[in-house]
Amino acid sequence: MIKKYVFGRPVKTDAVVMEIPESKEELSVMELTESDGIRLCCRMEETDVVYGLGEQVRGMNKRGFSYVSHATDDPAHTEDKHSLYGAHNFLILHRRKQAEEENRSFGIFVDDPGRVVFDVGETKHDWLVIRAGSDCVIYVIDGDGPKDVVKQFRRLIGRSYIPPKWAFGYQQSRWGYCCEEDIRTVVREHHGQGVPLDAVYLDIDYMEDYKDFTVDEKKFPQFESFVGEMKEQDVHLVPIIDAGVKIEKDYPIYEEGVQKGYFCKDENGEDFVAAVWPGRVHFPDVLNAEARAWFGGKYKVLMDQGIDGFWNDMNEPAIFYSEKNLGKVMDEVIALKDENLDIHSFFHMKELVVGLSNNQEDYKSFYHNMDGVKVRHDKVHNLYGFNMTRAAAEAFDRIAPGKRTLLFSRSSYIGMHRYGGIWTGDNRSWWSHILLSLQQMPSLNMCGILYTGSDIGGFGNDTTEDLLLRWLEFAIFTPLMRNHSAIGTREQEVYQFEHIEDFRNIIRIRYGLLPYIYSEYMKAALKDEMYFRPLSFDYPEDAHAVQVEDQLMAGESLMIAPVYVQNAGGRYVYLPEDMLMVRLKSLGDRTSEVLTKGHHYVEIALNELVIFVKKNHVLPIAVLGDDMRTTADIADAEYEWIGFVEDAAEYLLYDDDGIAKNCNLEENCKKITVRREDLA
Ligand code: GLC
Repeated sequence: MIKKYVFGRPVKTDAVVMEIPESKEELSVMELTESDGIRLCCRMEETDVVYGLGEQVRGMNKRGFSYVSHATDDPAHTEDKHSLYGAHNFLILHRRKQAEEENRSFGIFVDDPGRVVFDVGETKHDWLVIRAGSDCVIYVIDGDGPKDVVKQFRRLIGRSYIPPKWAFGYQQSRWGYCCEEDIRTVVREHHGQGVPLDAVYLDIDYMEDYKDFTVDEKKFPQFESFVGEMKEQDVHLVPIIDAGVKIEKDYPIYEEGVQKGYFCKDENGEDFVAAVWPGRVHFPDVLNAEARAWFGGKYKVLMDQGIDGFWNDMNEPAIFYSEKNLGKVMDEVIALKDENLDIHSFFHMKELVVGLSNNQEDYKSFYHNMDGVKVRHDKVHNLYGFNMTRAAAEAFDRIAPGKRTLLFSRSSYIGMHRYGGIWTGDNRSWWSHILLSLQQMPSLNMCGILYTGSDIGGFGNDTTEDLLLRWLEFAIFTPLMRNHSAIGTREQEVYQFEHIEDFRNIIRIRYGLLPYIYSEYMKAALKDEMYFRPLSFDYPEDAHAVQVEDQLMAGESLMIAPVYVQNAGGRYVYLPEDMLMVRLKSLGDRTSEVLTKGHHYVEIALNELVIFVKKNHVLPIAVLGDDMRTTADIADAEYEWIGFVEDAAEYLLYDDDGIAKNCNLEENCKKITVRREDLA
């Protein structure tokens, strides 16, 4: 049951797809006050759990901190951060049912694309307080526990994006691959050493002077034939597209955008000037339908050369500095020259310079044209990344109709999940970031974002062999499985390390599990369900399960418990019921044993994967040849089954051609009965 409450005159965000009449009843689950914006509050009981909020730091249970929805380009994902790149204003307050009692869990979605604050017991331990602007729509979802609340919410916001099947393969990226030869080396080294690889990314270095939709001919003299050369090996190239369009005379996109009035304007109606990688840029006004169609159409330039996947970046939008503010700051700094800079003046100067980037005043100084209405950017800030991605996805429907194109974004808002996935931005080569990624996954799934993953090995800082291996052992399960790192950091392609056989084994396990991972992803997308779930979602009656912050349910049959601590030879695992523990050194080298419900210490060597199969559940594993290199090689692979069954269990196996858009459950699902004697 969903109730809708409208306050003031909200802008149309297109976050939801379901028409719901405005509720006549009072908003009862939280106390509402309207002065200087909307304020909602309620007291939390000691055992209440708060889930949701998508891409944020800290645990799956969000209690004890404040989260601010304000899309931010911040490469330090530390636990003091209130905002990351996305804005996902949906949470669930889960109150465990006492016997005979009515369920008192609820979900709430605050559809406000400006700044929204969720104080989940930071200021006052027992109080959940939400503060939004005066113009917003609030949806309250009453359901039978969190799983049901999520399902209703997901119906409200529409079906999740479905990428092509090859995008479930292993992918390699690095900021710094700069020419054809670099990319060839990556492919040769992986495939040559028997490590499967489906895609290589092109970061900003492929462009000519960081200009969107251009290719530097010095680095890629024959781009189209190079894309073809890669395709022959079933490797896809995935170029980055940035939000800022370089200001440069005779650059057609710049010239056209100016002439047609498609860029965001400043208060005087001039095209707003910010700066990102190429220096001065304009931002395409993707909140304007016409400009959105125009910008989206530009992806065709690359698609015509064989490209079938993109990642959209810097679309919070990130601002290094604005032209206007830079002038002011420069004047102030120059005035300080020859001064004796002391405690006050030195720090003031430093703040001025650091404050040039992503400055809040800049976000208040430009405007969108939304259906003819001039809207100040900060009021709709969180919609920018969403609409840049929507621009691309809507264009793909025109350029390559019926076909899936890989697309994901850095910034997002609820609703973007219909158009693309996200990656979780500029993390670090820190052990704690394996855990952070694990904790973000179910929170993102609740918000409809299913195609997601983190930069494996860490984007910033130098990785190590053990960190990369452990990270991969978790990322085997994330739909987006991409190793990505920043320029200047240690090279972290798996072949840079000594024990290539360990990496080969682990990555091949991903491909072996692909029939399961793909099937579970597709069912989750088509049924509006979660692929990754906290344990408590599957075991609501279990008081321990709710405490577990470092294990996940992955699809219907599996629980995972990755190692995320350096030098640990294993870890404690909580089993909410008896499960089959399967230990894989490689796809073919598997052993298993039944573990009973409860706490266990499980030894897990650095080069092993351990998974836990639920009772009466099975999963398919593809039988791979030694020469298998990409997902294309396993299209017709045979399956083996592993499972924990007494007599027999049923599995609904989804499969399709991996490329056509019209996926549906009825046509592509097979119910398979797996008997105990069928198990491998
Ligand atoms: C941003 C992105 C990162 C990319 C870099 C250069 O920091 O988040 O993934 O490598 O820009 O384009």
